[in-house]
Amino acid sequence: MIGPILGVETSCDETSAAVLGPGGEILGLVIHSQDVHHVYGGIVPELAARDHLRRITLVVDAALGQADVKRKELAAVAVTAAPGLIGALLVGYTWARAQAFGLGIPLIPVHHMEAHLFGPVLENPEAVPPFVALLVSGGHTLLVWVPVWGRYELIGETRDDAVGEAFDKVGKLLGLPYPGGPEIEALARQGDPLRFAFPRPMLKRSQSEDDPDFFDFSFSGLKTAVAQTVAPLEENGTLESERMHLAAGFQEAAVDVLVGKTLRAVRAVGCTRVLVGGGVSANKFLRDRLVHALGRDGTLFYSSPRLAMDNGAMVARAGQFRADRLQESVQEVSARAPIPGSTAWQGSLRSGGAGPRRPTSIKEGH
Ligand code: KG4
Ligand code: ZN
Repeated sequence: MIGPILGVETSCDETSAAVLGPGGEILGLVIHSQDVHHVYGGIVPELAARDHLRRITLVVDAALGQADVKRKELAAVAVTAAPGLIGALLVGYTWARAQAFGLGIPLIPVHHMEAHLFGPVLENPEAVPPFVALLVSGGHTLLVWVPVWGRYELIGETRDDAVGEAFDKVGKLLGLPYPGGPEIEALARQGDPLRFAFPRPMLKRSQSEDDPDFFDFSFSGLKTAVAQTVAPLEENGTLESERMHLAAGFQEAAVDVLVGKTLRAVRAVGCTRVLVGGGVSANKFLRDRLVHALGRDGTLFYSSPRLAMDNGAMVARAGQFRADRLQESVQEVSARAPIPGSTAWQGSLRSGGAGPRRPTSIKEGH
């Protein structure tokens, strides 16, 4: 693979940079989580963009320093190009583009959700397709069938709020600091999940595969159900003592839906290898429930919390895959259109050993 490669991530509220070696090993990784949003209880896009701009050079320099790699030794720069907050994305993308241009090396744009798929393989070489992926973050809730890297078939997605967003909004209702996800998980450990019964949206036994919402998610109604339960407790002054039970009840309902839908996808596809990625995959309660549901025959791949949240290492690793893919298509073109009298192209194919591949037959899904 191409390396050393710099990966830059600024799509939301983490400014992160990483340097990976040619084997995909992390040589340096720095993540700056912005705290400017905490007083507002949610992300303020304009503040996010400004903070990225303030930090990005420092963060990249620190990652290069950890890796002991000089700028001029870099082989490529990978950067999150979409999706995300537009101002935040533009800071990282423009910065990375200028770096690549100045250094005369390729710029590799990366899709943020594809990068999350590459999180677990940074720590576990077996976390490779085929697998069913459950991608759960602050902006997305996706179920994707991944038969090979680069081929993504959407099975289900949220129709309204992402599950991470629901965790954050419920956190706010309970008066917890932003982001609510980790706070709710911690609080829920002491709570009784049966004290408040919350709905499991779009998860009914009577549904069949033909129902349009069989694999899809919805979390906005669950959040409203929590809000309606919180209001009278706030009025009569008992919210404080019920918070842990509310957190446990909400988490149980959200996780029931995530696990239930993942199992449906596993059965439909016939593959018991499952990858869970994105910030919400840092939730141990979710991971334990997935492992339990998959049973002995199943395998769950996930990252340590640091690599589950937004980070430059997953971007760099997805960039390495994209660069290799590009290289393969270049070889394919040269194999089809040899320069008459030249043998150089034949040599490059022979030394590769594998012969020409057909990347054009692989479907791109995003
Ligand atoms: O992937 P990520 O870092 O950023 C986005 O791409 O959105 O995910 C951030 C989301 C936030 O909503 C945060 O509350 C959630 O991940 N999160 C968690 C936990 N840790 C982070 N949600 C539930 N339990 C956690 N332990
Ligand atoms: Zn993310």
